[in-house]
Amino acid sequence: MTSIDIMTIPTIKLNNGVTMPAVAMGSWQGTFDGSTKELDQAIQVGYRHFDTAALYRNETVVGQAIRDSGLPASDFFVTTKLGNDDHHRVAEAFQESLDALNLDRPIDLWLMHWPGGRKDGKSYYGPPEGPTFNETWTDMEKVYDSGRVRAIGVSNFSIATLEELLKTARIVPAVNQVEGHPYNPDDELKAYCDKKHIHLTYYSPLGSQIGEGNSVSPILTDPDLKEIAKAHDVSVGQIALSWAVQRGASVAPRSTNPDRMKQNLTLVTLTKDEVDRIDGIHKKDESRHTRLCNVAYRKEQNTAGGWTLDRLGWDVGFKTA
Ligand code: A2P
Repeated sequence: MTSIDIMTIPTIKLNNGVTMPAVAMGSWQGTFDGSTKELDQAIQVGYRHFDTAALYRNETVVGQAIRDSGLPASDFFVTTKLGNDDHHRVAEAFQESLDALNLDRPIDLWLMHWPGGRKDGKSYYGPPEGPTFNETWTDMEKVYDSGRVRAIGVSNFSIATLEELLKTARIVPAVNQVEGHPYNPDDELKAYCDKKHIHLTYYSPLGSQIGEGNSVSPILTDPDLKEIAKAHDVSVGQIALSWAVQRGASVAPRSTNPDRMKQNLTLVTLTKDEVDRIDGIHKKDESRHTRLCNVAYRKEQNTAGGWTLDRLGWDVGFKTA
């Protein structure tokens, strides 16, 4: 069977009515930190949603590429994130992101990058070293009230940390951005977020190719995904992204290669059997139920983003690190 049914990239309506394109160009880990060349290509092939962060140190170049495109800045959707070092200086950090992007308009979506803050290079869980994430969120809510950001959300939150956050949150996060792909679909978190009207975005939706032991993502060589890709005459990457978007998640795949950039915007509609098969991959064997994006993971301490996996409430760990 050759694919004839190309899925139009949907937009997601967030819980405050703001709409967001479901495929973003991810930009972490040194992607796009020099020139705007690859970002210009991404804009040319059709990307209008860019996912950046203060921690990635490329907000400036993302803003530059958008300004250089000659298109109205309002055609774009920009997500950026509050860095871990900034939990105690939220308003200042927001202004720095706004200035770095320099778009003369509000930021579309601003996420708390990790629940854990860090001061003087040391991660903490809360007082006395720094604020709790509840307090950090309260400060983010104040920025939202100022009208300079259209939606606020979180990243790397679990059911446990979201439950903790929601006890004090005045504004329900619009988005929770987490690692997600067929090896770590986070079904329970997805169901929880759906129930709470928190949209789930998957980062590293192709499995990450950076980090210890990850030179080629196992997602891209997975036998089940390969068979489905063959049936549709598309790449495995396109199948992984199509599956994610079809289940109502958005995705932020990175690519600096124009062909793959284009592929990742060209999704196909999967049959129910195919969706069921992909949903079942992580249940088939343990090695296919794992986190893959281990850049922020410290094996010796079993921490990610400075917090133990237990404290993060992450029940799926890393097998490749
Ligand atoms: P490239 O820039 O050469 O395309 P992540 O999962 O963290 O988003 O990383 C994506 C990785 O997968 C990048 O190394 C990227 O490399 C590669 N990649 C992006 N799109 C595809 C695709 N459709 N098929 C295979 N590899 C891809």
